Amino acid sequence: MADSWRPTSARSSGSSTSKPPEQAELIAEPDSDEEYQNDDDRDRDSALGSDIESSAGSIASSILEYRMIQGRTYHSDRHNTNYFTPNDEQQLQSIDITHHYLTLLLEDRLFLAPISDNVQNVLDIGTGSGIWSIDFADQFPHAQVIGTDLSPMQPLWVPPNVRFELEDCTQPWSWPESYFDFVHLRYLFGAIPDWDELLRQAYRVTRPGGWVQSCETECIIKCDDGSVPPDSAMVTFWNKIYSEIGAKLGTSFEPITYDLQENAFRAAGFKNIEVYDYKLPITGWPTDKRMSEVGQYVQLTLLNDLEGYTLMPWHMVMNEDAPGYKENLSRMRRELHNKRIHAYMRTRYVYGQKPEV
Ligand SMILES: C[S@@+](CC[C@H](N)C(=O)[O-])C[C@H]1O[C@@H](n2cnc3c(N)ncnc32)[C@H](O)[C@@H]1O
Repeated sequence: MADSWRPTSARSSGSSTSKPPEQAELIAEPDSDEEYQNDDDRDRDSALGSDIESSAGSIASSILEYRMIQGRTYHSDRHNTNYFTPNDEQQLQSIDITHHYLTLLLEDRLFLAPISDNVQNVLDIGTGSGIWSIDFADQFPHAQVIGTDLSPMQPLWVPPNVRFELEDCTQPWSWPESYFDFVHLRYLFGAIPDWDELLRQAYRVTRPGGWVQSCETECIIKCDDGSVPPDSAMVTFWNKIYSEIGAKLGTSFEPITYDLQENAFRAAGFKNIEVYDYKLPITGWPTDKRMSEVGQYVQLTLLNDLEGYTLMPWHMVMNEDAPGYKENLSRMRRELHNKRIHAYMRTRYVYGQKPEV
């Protein structure tokens, strides 16, 4: 398989005590006419989903006035931003499955940064269903974890050392300077108009010696062996809307192509910056057992809420009432069941340390 883009690489400017897992080279199973069996994307077993309840009792009602687009809810208009995925149960399930495949990708780790075992104050920006915050709080019961988001869609029953707050991370952060030992930023593609400003704010609230980590996946679907046909829905539908939506929203969906994370870490003044790249198979096509499992969960995430990922981008890129949306969804679902397609997306982890004063 041609492989001009390295599966795992590190560009380091300092030392690290915690080396991340090497990714096995993605090698496809021999061609098969079979399709994946788990075809029913609507009645999927929701055991992985979170039990979401809103903390409506304690927050202003305007934040619960969610916008409705074709039966899906999106964050309240109260925020001066326009985030592209819904905040409903179906999308929360996909966030939880995403957390599972990213944890598998890191060989059961929640993070790569070499933080201290005695980590005290942790901030998880854009926490979504809160699943990373909850798992981190379980693993570090002496730490205090705060997860923030635009929507109060996190569960009520969480470990006592986690709390969730509403905060728009594109506005000035309310946290004091040098407060957190670890700031976690994950899957904020499409949400951030200015990555330099995001990392400047993360730097400000991190204590000297503390760490910030960013993980992003770039939505554009690629392959190394020509198995994604140019007229496929993956190219003409998915890649088209994701390569055009960023310009419409003013928030990049291509953080890896433009090195947005790494550049912003450097501009903010972090040291000991490390960068790790992975290929994220989008179905179970690799022969390597772990990467095949990762791919099956990526497939499950996408099939669980293909509409949630594409509805707003489609309408913004193709304009209201453009024909063919449902047809594209079903073509894309079929392709996600085709074992001969060896597709992947790129994932990048970057972390850095705020210098000791
Ligand atoms: C793809 S989800 C990722 C959730 C979580 N970080 C994870 O990796 O499990 C992105 C989350 O970022 C939140 N978000 C988007 N824009 C935001 C903003 N300006 N401020 C805070 N959260 C934001 C969304 O509401 C959504 O819950």
